[in-house]
Amino acid sequence: MSSKSSHKSSGTAKTKSSSSRNTASPYPALETPRLLLKPVELADAPQIQTLFPQWEIVRYLRNIVPWPYPPGGSLYYLREMALPAIARGDAWHWTLRLKENPGQVIGFISLMKNENENRGFWMGLQWQGCGLMSEACDVVTEYWFEVLKFPVLRAPKAVENSASRRISEKQGMRVIATEERDYVCGRLPSEIWEITAEEWRARKKVRS
Ligand SMILES: CC(C)(COP(=O)(O)OP(=O)(O)OC[C@H]1O[C@@H](n2cnc3c(N)ncnc32)[C@H](O)[C@@H]1OP(=O)(O)O)[C@@H](O)C(=O)NCCC(=O)NCCS
Repeated sequence: MSSKSSHKSSGTAKTKSSSSRNTASPYPALETPRLLLKPVELADAPQIQTLFPQWEIVRYLRNIVPWPYPPGGSLYYLREMALPAIARGDAWHWTLRLKENPGQVIGFISLMKNENENRGFWMGLQWQGCGLMSEACDVVTEYWFEVLKFPVLRAPKAVENSASRRISEKQGMRVIATEERDYVCGRLPSEIWEITAEEWRARKKVRS
């Protein structure tokens, strides 16, 4: 994995103009055709608390997510886990918002330095199935390889999590291992998906 200093280098991921950047954040906002990806802040906790605690969203997440989800769970997560990891340079978390309604959080996407778990995401129920997470994954994967300069991205997922596996397939990822993992819904057969920086760049060339 790359050193901390390379995380400051500039790259080709599309970032928001400096005027709309969150100046308190060590990393930029990103955008896709339909989405704004805004570095997460403590102030996002109430909206996340409203959207996130749904069985359809949490069931295939790692069992470190408490269930039933407690009042104040999102505030605790942001204050004690997500923001400290950002400050250490170990994670990059963005809220997802539609450009047409930027005040409304609709989902969440993360990049993390962990060995086999470098990307995670969830989308609010009413915005699922519109291709939005596919868009968000493209721009954060680009950020992972071209700005943060990591050589490989890996993501574990439950075999039965078809929507998440489909996103990996569409991004040209490969399954490199299978194992049992513990999710909020219990222990399930899982796959580790991977794509290297070289594969990501080759795929971009073919598509352009
Ligand atoms: C996974 C998740 C983020 C996908 O978000 P989304 O915005 O609905 O994703 P997209 O609309 O970009 O769809 C992704 C692909 O999955 C497909 N898909 C969606 N639901 C599916 C299902 N139940 N079965 C099979 N494919 C499905 C879509 O058709 C699309 O493929 P396509 O472009 O070939 O049509 C969303 O389902 C979610 O939040 N799940 C709960 C959290 C979670 O499991 N996170 C991942 C943990 S590894």
